[in-house]
Amino acid sequence: MQLPDPAWCITQNSWEPAHQRHSETIFTIGNGYLSTRGVFEEGYPRESRATFLHGVFDDVPIVFTELANIPDWLELTILLDGEHYCLNMGEVLFFERSLDLRNGLLTRRVRWRSPQGNITLLEFERFASLADSHTTLLRVKITPENYSGTVEIHAGINGEADNEGYKHWEWLGQAAHNGSLWLHTRTRASQIELAAAARLSLKSQSDIQMESWNVHNHPTLVRRTALRAGESIEIEKVVVYYTSRDTSHPLDAARQHLAELPNPAWDSLWRPHQENWEKEWQTCDVEIEGDPEAQIAVRFSLFQLLIAAPRQDEHVSIGAKTLSGYGYRGHVFWDTEIFMLPFFTYTQPAIARNLLSYRYHNLDGARRKARANGFEGAQYPWESAATGDEVTPTWVPHFADRTKMVRIWTGDIEIHISAMICYALCQYWKATGDDHFILHRGAEIFFEVARFWASRAEWNKEHSRYEFHDVIGPDEYHDHVDNNAFTNAFARWTLQNAIRLYSWLTRNHPDIAATYCEKLHLMPAELQQWQDVAEKIYFPYDPQTGLIEQFDGYFQRRDVDLQALEPRSESIQSIFGIEGANLTQVLKQPDVLMLAYLLPELLDERSLQANYDYYTPRTDHTYGSSLGPSIQAIMACRLGKQEDAYEHFMRAARADLRDVRGNAGDGIHGASAGGVWQAVVFGFGGLHMDQHGWHIVPRLPSHWKRLKFHFTWRGHPYLIDLPNHGPFSSEAQDDSRVSL
Ligand code: BGC
Repeated sequence: MQLPDPAWCITQNSWEPAHQRHSETIFTIGNGYLSTRGVFEEGYPRESRATFLHGVFDDVPIVFTELANIPDWLELTILLDGEHYCLNMGEVLFFERSLDLRNGLLTRRVRWRSPQGNITLLEFERFASLADSHTTLLRVKITPENYSGTVEIHAGINGEADNEGYKHWEWLGQAAHNGSLWLHTRTRASQIELAAAARLSLKSQSDIQMESWNVHNHPTLVRRTALRAGESIEIEKVVVYYTSRDTSHPLDAARQHLAELPNPAWDSLWRPHQENWEKEWQTCDVEIEGDPEAQIAVRFSLFQLLIAAPRQDEHVSIGAKTLSGYGYRGHVFWDTEIFMLPFFTYTQPAIARNLLSYRYHNLDGARRKARANGFEGAQYPWESAATGDEVTPTWVPHFADRTKMVRIWTGDIEIHISAMICYALCQYWKATGDDHFILHRGAEIFFEVARFWASRAEWNKEHSRYEFHDVIGPDEYHDHVDNNAFTNAFARWTLQNAIRLYSWLTRNHPDIAATYCEKLHLMPAELQQWQDVAEKIYFPYDPQTGLIEQFDGYFQRRDVDLQALEPRSESIQSIFGIEGANLTQVLKQPDVLMLAYLLPELLDERSLQANYDYYTPRTDHTYGSSLGPSIQAIMACRLGKQEDAYEHFMRAARADLRDVRGNAGDGIHGASAGGVWQAVVFGFGGLHMDQHGWHIVPRLPSHWKRLKFHFTWRGHPYLIDLPNHGPFSSEAQDDSRVSL
């Protein structure tokens, strides 16, 4: 047997029931259409079983809407000589699980001794086809070692799937006969239909008994056969899904698709699947020589982004927890545009375009939100789902005492999200030169968001300036603050760039400019007002110290020596409480440094250094937000602090693999995964763009022997190959190779 390649495979060598929820997240597989957590085919008590399919949201109390866990394709009950196989019974003699990131194949080998002493080797494999996104496959080889007896398999599709107790599906129809089955269901409120069609095949040297159980809402195919010690059987289950989001007749589509697949299907589906994965990695792989942990962690992060990326659907986006867990219920945050999207913009722009189109299609939801709050234009929701309406819960149970409720303000006042979408649009436009997208989709978003900012700005008569009161910046330890530097700077940036975009349009595409003027009732007077607001937005910068005050009065808050609290294993918010943390200067994420990262022209070297030195020791790096460490790493790189950069980078790289915050069981931290790519490419790799194109100023950690990465600029793919020559100097890149 080939050993898993440690540069490409995530491997678990022992059975650790205590970390089951975490490993279910880590061993998630997917194909951009759906993802399935790494639960066992046969089930396990208290597992967090879930398959999520993009866009299949349904109503739910408190959080408004959530991705519905769809009827499960994995289910396989195995009876070995009458004994039920499950790892909570008998004894696990050998256990190995491996996820091959090259192709998304998940394998598991188990030697299991039953309560009666029968030993069986079970070898499982599964993948969600990247070439045929509606199709998922699993197979298992069963070999009894010290006994001869019967093997019985039950392979069903269970319509009783729920979201941790909450049911979304109602039954529409089903059948099970002649070796295949189907189930047709519909979400209760959103009325999305889903059809699953499945087939079971089995290879055995003995006779096979076949049955079909038409149990209501749980059609099941049953096979029975005899096995002698040392002989094996192979079982394949193939499942096809369609929803009414794909076609108006999902049941017909699923049944027909299944009928067209060869039987068995594995071999014919495997090859195109693998070829597609090869192509994916050719555009985006990152190679790190000299640091095996960083190497596998980076590839793991990219794999997570790739399996969550919608390739055929521009009406969905990637939620904060991707499609890998119940955390945040599938809702989409700024995590997508600022943290995940750059990876796609610079390696697979077609996917970036889909993700940005999601915001375009949801513009009306953002318009509704602005209107409901008394503003103009478009105010994007802090948490977004199917329609672009705000879906942030307003009250949730307190994390420490679930009998108390906590008011969540982010949906009301964390307003920088709208500017983030414009920022991502600009980045995409610069990297791709896709004028068509900006002309027909991006510009409308930009103008409507600019309008929102202009109407949200408050005039301060005393100081003759515009201000933004009562907001939350990226650092959520502080709420209800005035003049958050990040928010104010991005309000100004959006207004300025909306004006630039408008003049570019009038110069180069006057007909389209005229269409927008008519459609959006955009008048010169309004643009003049944008200009006026942009020029007079207050920005809390002290030229003497070079410091930016994160918000009004921040420097007066209680200063806490975070070092003195070490060692700790909780966030500052858990230690001081929500109100208590609010009164301190401790940050959940480095708000001002994030601003400096996104708008580098804002700060000169001296000021960057001053802000880095001030805010870094006041940030809750390990237990605050998972969004912070990668950005902190990039800023450390920019200031030549290689050791600090590496420490922050590894904190991001380990976020899920090592379960740094203890919540990876809720799903992958997608923003951290995207941030890891940015830290490697923009931080250590030193890739940056300006009006002349792209440049490289590498700053590799001293123990890295070589870094290689790909990116795409204006339609051209580049491969950057950076051997490490010790302490960085910009001349040291002479032999870095760039190939097309
Ligand atoms: C962070 C936000 C982030 C959200 C979803 C929060 O804890 O503070 O910035 O958008 O999680 O990941």
